[in-house]
Amino acid sequence: MNHYVRHIAGTIFAAATTLALSVFAYAQQEVKLGYALATTSHYGVAAEKWQEVVEAETDGRHVFRHFPSSGLGGEREVIEGVQLGTVEATIVSSGTLSNFVPETGVFDIPFLFRDLAHARAVLDGPIGQEILAKFDDVGLVALAWGEQGFRHITNNRNAIAGPADVAGLKLRTMENPTHITAFEALGAAPTPMAWPEVIGALQQGTIDGQENPLSVITSAKLSEVQKYLTLSGHVYSPAMLLVSKQLWDGMSEEDQEIFRNAASEAVTAMRGFVDDVETSGVAQLKEAGMDVGELSAEQRAAFQKALTTAYETYYGTFGKELVDQIIASK
Ligand code: PAF
Repeated sequence: MNHYVRHIAGTIFAAATTLALSVFAYAQQEVKLGYALATTSHYGVAAEKWQEVVEAETDGRHVFRHFPSSGLGGEREVIEGVQLGTVEATIVSSGTLSNFVPETGVFDIPFLFRDLAHARAVLDGPIGQEILAKFDDVGLVALAWGEQGFRHITNNRNAIAGPADVAGLKLRTMENPTHITAFEALGAAPTPMAWPEVIGALQQGTIDGQENPLSVITSAKLSEVQKYLTLSGHVYSPAMLLVSKQLWDGMSEEDQEIFRNAASEAVTAMRGFVDDVETSGVAQLKEAGMDVGELSAEQRAAFQKALTTAYETYYGTFGKELVDQIIASK
């Protein structure tokens, strides 16, 4: 090789190396992450942890972009976006999940779980993990169960001490058949509605109330639009961390593992937030002027009794054996 040919070969090699390096530098995947609540909520805390771990451990191969406060629309729309691959990731409630995988609705049965520890053990155990795996069949990758806490009723009509107090109450529910069945059985007037419309509807008085855990009631500042808070704890509210199949299938196995572990760290952060707000939330809401009442054991039992017909429906839908197995699990 003469000097001239060596020079040309060297130049071509240098150009190819620069090109390869710049392609590598730009081979960064943006992860659009949508969720319904503010960055200061339990979702925001989980989203931040998920981002922090993935970005650090994939050396910037994945870069998160947050869309909090329903920035990408209601939860159903966002899940559909994840299914289509126009949104890479989301943290959602179980609100519309049973419209995608009907089996998830079993966890939305009222008075199913004794406490947070019971719910977490079931969701992290074989029953919960089996349901997570079913999301594969509908073009979604479900990485972990998160949580919001136990849901309580807020409204502007009256304090609630028993089922008679919810009779005819225009109560916004999630678009969730299990919840709607329960409130119909209680004699309320359940009004399914996507979350982005709820605050406006409460302000305008087209609905009397809504139900959500303390994590949501505090972070969405519902005390500004609702007078009565009844600590009913009528149903546990799971959440889920989902990613698109396009994102998942385009990743190396190593990055998939990083995403999965990061999701589990995000869940730990979310549950930590829920634990904190369960202890501090009520005082905060009283301070903000809410009239707070807590159902006694007898009053809770009266609600449970009023749900007998709803339970018959749940047994028909999910199987009595599964419902009993969840209730009995330690
Ligand atoms: O009530 C709901 O729709 C959900 O709990 C919320 C507030 C969107 C959080 O996922």
